[in-house]
Amino acid sequence: MCGITGYTGFNQAGPILLEGLKRLEYRGYDSAGIAVQDESEIKMLKATGKVSHLVEKFEATPDFTGVCGIGHTRWATHGIPSDTNAHPHLSADGKFAVVHNGIIENFAEIRAELQKYGIEFKSETDTEVIVQLLAYNYKGNFKMALMKTIARLEGSYAIGVISADHPGTILAARLSSPLIIGIGIGENYFASDITALVSNTKNVIDMDDGEVAEITPEEVKFYDHAGREINKEIRHITWDIASAEKSGYEHFMLKEIMEQPQALKATIEPRVKDESIVLDELNLDMKKFNRIHITACGSAYHAGCVGRGIIESLCRIPVEAEVASELRYRDPIMDEKTLVIVISQSGETADTIAAMKECRSKGATILAIVNVVGSSIAKLADYCLYTWAGPEIAVATTKGYTTQVVLLAMFAVWAAGEMKTISQGAYISMVKDIMRLPERAQRALDLNSRVKTMAEKYFDNSSLFFIGRNMDYAVALEGSLKLKEISYLHSEAYAAGELKHGTIALIEPGRLVVALCCYEKLLDKTISNIQQVKARGARVLAVAHEGNRAIFTEADDVLSVPVTDPLLVPVIEIIPLQLFAYYVAKKNGCDIDKPKNLAKSVTVE
Ligand code: AGP
Repeated sequence: MCGITGYTGFNQAGPILLEGLKRLEYRGYDSAGIAVQDESEIKMLKATGKVSHLVEKFEATPDFTGVCGIGHTRWATHGIPSDTNAHPHLSADGKFAVVHNGIIENFAEIRAELQKYGIEFKSETDTEVIVQLLAYNYKGNFKMALMKTIARLEGSYAIGVISADHPGTILAARLSSPLIIGIGIGENYFASDITALVSNTKNVIDMDDGEVAEITPEEVKFYDHAGREINKEIRHITWDIASAEKSGYEHFMLKEIMEQPQALKATIEPRVKDESIVLDELNLDMKKFNRIHITACGSAYHAGCVGRGIIESLCRIPVEAEVASELRYRDPIMDEKTLVIVISQSGETADTIAAMKECRSKGATILAIVNVVGSSIAKLADYCLYTWAGPEIAVATTKGYTTQVVLLAMFAVWAAGEMKTISQGAYISMVKDIMRLPERAQRALDLNSRVKTMAEKYFDNSSLFFIGRNMDYAVALEGSLKLKEISYLHSEAYAAGELKHGTIALIEPGRLVVALCCYEKLLDKTISNIQQVKARGARVLAVAHEGNRAIFTEADDVLSVPVTDPLLVPVIEIIPLQLFAYYVAKKNGCDIDKPKNLAKSVTVE
C-alpha cells in the first residue's frame, strides 16, 4: 500500500531517495517523508500530499545532507494523512528512524505496554510502535534489537531502519510485504519494488518472509529468523528504465493501454509451439480435479469472470469465480480435488493472499496468474504462470487485465487438451485466434481518436451504465470499474437481461448506456435491451464487431472492433473502454495515474 526505499553509499541520499519515491508514488500518495543519518544525528523531512511537496521542502533545506537514508510514500491506514502521521517515524530518543509498509495488527497492545514505561507516542500510526520498541530493545547491538522487535510484531511489514549510532547501516526486514535489495558498487539500496531501483542497478535480491538484511555501502548480509547468516541469489532485471517511465506519453495509463499488443505477444508467443499451447511451468494432472475456483480482487476478479466462462466452455468442469475478500471468510467447500486459480497483477494483494491460504488449508492446489516476478503470491502458489506484461505503474490496470485474460484462455485451451474435452479442430482454431490477438488489439487501439471524440461527447454524464450479456457482461464489469476509478463518475455494470428487474427505473432522458454487443450469440437479446433503454430516452454508445451493420440503426454511436472468437472477445472489446475511461477522466481534469483514495497494490485488508 505504501512505497519504501533506502540508500547507503557515497552519494547524497536525499536526491536518490526522492527519485525512488517518485517512482513508488503509485503505491500511495497522501504524504511522504525521508530521513538521513548524518554524523551522529537523524535528520527528517516530511510533507502531506504528493512527493512533489516533499521535493519542494527538500530543495528549500540545503543542509539536509547525509549518505545513508530511508524514504516513504504513504497510503494512510492508521491516522489521517498529515506530517505527523507521515513516515519515517522517529524513536522518542531520536536515535532510530523507521519506514514501514504493511499493518502491525497488535500495535495497540505494544503501544499500551510501552506507554507504561513512559514512552510518548507522537503519531496515530501502527508503525510508530516498531521504532519505539526497537529503541526500547536496543542495548548496543542494532541487529539484535531489530530481531527482538520483529519477533513481537503481528501482521505484515516491510521495514527499513537507520540508527544515529550506526553510520552507513540500514537494517531491513519483511513479512508478507514486498521488499527488494538493490546491489550496486560501493552503494546499496532497498525498495518495495524494482521500479524504484532500476535506474541505479539491475542486480536485485528478493527478500523472503522472516529475513533481515544488513545493508552497508560495501555489502549486504542476510539473516534468517533465528539470526543465522544465509546466502541469497542475485537476480538480473531484464527490463530497463524506459519501461518504468512514460516514454513521451502524458500518462502511464495511456502508455500501458498502448503497450497491450506487445504485452499480449510477450505473454502468448513463448507458450505456443507448433500450434500447441505449452505450459512448461505446469506439471498438473488436470484429471485429478472435479472443480475449479477462481479468486482475485477488482480487475483481476473481472478477468476471473471471463476465465470462468472460457474454462467452463472448453473444459466442461464446474468453475466458480469469487472476490477474494468474500471467499476468505466463507468457509468454502473444497478439497484436494479442487484447483484454485488466483489472479493478481501485483502478486501482493492482501485479500487474495488470505483467500489463497484459506483454500490451501482445505487441500486445494493453487495456481497463480501473476505479473510481478518473485511476488508473494507467485512464491506461495503451487504453480505460477506469469503474465509478461512488464511493469504496470498506473493505478488503473489495463495491460495487466488483458494479459490475465489471455493467459486464462491459454490455460483453458491447454487444460481442455489435457482433459480431452476439445476437438483437434477447435483446439487449433483457438490457438490461431489467440496468436492473432496482438494484431487485433493493435487494430482496436486504432480507434483511439474516435474514442476520444466519444469521450468529449459524453464526458459530462454524471451517472452511466454498462450493459452486456455473457462475455460482454464480464467486460461491462471491467469497463465500468475503469471509468469510475479514474473519472469518479458513478457507473454501474449490469447484465443486460437484469435491467428490467429494477435498474431500468434509473434510465432517464440523456442517461448514457454503453452497450457491449460483441458476444454475437446473444446479440438479438442485447439489441432488445438497447431498445428498452432507448425507449426511455437513454443515449447508447455501442461496442460491436466490425461488419455488424444492424447496430448502427439501434445505437447513437458505435465503436467497431475486430472480430474474434466469442471466448476471446474481452481482450479486444475492453480496449476502447479503457481509452474511453482515460479520455473521460482527462476531460474531467482528474489525476489519471493516481486517482484519489486508491493505491496500486492493496496490501491491507
Ligand atoms: C484496477 O484498475 C484496480 N485498481 C484494482 O481493482 C486491482 O485490479 C485490484 O486491487 C487487484 O490488484 P492485483 O491484480 O494487484 O491483485
